[in-house]
Amino acid sequence: MAESRAGLVVRPMRPEDVEVAEQISAEAFLQVDLATRRATDPEPERRPAARSQRWIDRTARLLATDGPGCWVADLDGRTVGMATSLRRETLWALATFAVLPEAQGGVGRPLLDAALQHSVGCLRGLLSSSSDPRAVRRYQAAGFDLHPQMVLSGRPDTSTAPTLGAVREARSSDRELMDSVDRRCRGAGRGSDHDLLAEMAPALVLESRSASGYVYADDGRVAALAATDRRTAARLLWAALLTATGDAEVPHVTGANQWALQVGLAAGLTVRTEGYLGVRGMKPPTPYLHNGALL
Ligand SMILES: CC(C)(COP(=O)(O)OP(=O)(O)OC[C@H]1O[C@@H](n2cnc3c(N)ncnc32)[C@H](O)[C@@H]1OP(=O)(O)O)[C@@H](O)C(=O)NCCC(=O)NCCS
Repeated sequence: MAESRAGLVVRPMRPEDVEVAEQISAEAFLQVDLATRRATDPEPERRPAARSQRWIDRTARLLATDGPGCWVADLDGRTVGMATSLRRETLWALATFAVLPEAQGGVGRPLLDAALQHSVGCLRGLLSSSSDPRAVRRYQAAGFDLHPQMVLSGRPDTSTAPTLGAVREARSSDRELMDSVDRRCRGAGRGSDHDLLAEMAPALVLESRSASGYVYADDGRVAALAATDRRTAARLLWAALLTATGDAEVPHVTGANQWALQVGLAAGLTVRTEGYLGVRGMKPPTPYLHNGALL
């Protein structure tokens, strides 16, 4: 336990904290969305109930696998902040970090320091930052390099999609292959996080003698993608766009993943910038589209 701002106690998260942590993150991110909203953006809304429940379920599972990476901050006895993180092999990743707007100022720093204790012994770190300047300042101070991210969205025109060949639905026996691809892209397999991703979206796999990769995508919304080479990654992204019945969304495209921008623009999607990928001890992974929480 640590104490810095008067009345502030940072302590390990407990299962009974998870629902409050969800409310804190929903409120903090709504305020960021309202503050950083562009004139063309839709009116920001609070996280809907179904997504809140998925957030709670995922965080409860993370707490079970990565208890030492999950913390809350109490201010005068009220829980006002939370940080969750995970460690996979030698990679540390920040899942969520939020403080209630009215309590911000000196709460985030000790919370992030506590979560970073879980990174001791990890060579690499990854996080997906919002556009909040407070978050950017904290991450840079913690030694992360920040790379702007793009989001591709809109109704995809798949008339120019290449032949997809051997793209097929993933099987549970593909997990080792998928972890190998992840190790090549980001230095660590995902392990049990594949279960969490599979609950967000079905996975497609492309496997040949010389190239492999996977994408998690639901109705054109990409949750994560990794491949051994750009050509395979591009084919998987086309396969993901082909699952769209309406608008597609491809978030978390860094400048290192120009192949994704090329596919998105060829499919007629629009591009905007949103947030940053933070990396420590590594370059932005490629060909790779990270998941915002599980990276
Ligand atoms: C990011 C967040 C968790 C940090 O909590 P916090 O209590 O505000 O954090 P701290 O006060 O310890 O650190 C914020 C830093 O930004 C600085 N800061 C505050 N307002 C700023 C601004 N408008 N521009 C630049 N820096 C600013 C603070 O001075 C402080 O830096 P310092 O410690 O070097 O003085 C919190 O602001 C938050 O919940 N934001 C919304 C959700 C979010 O974006 N989370 C990150 C998700 S990836």
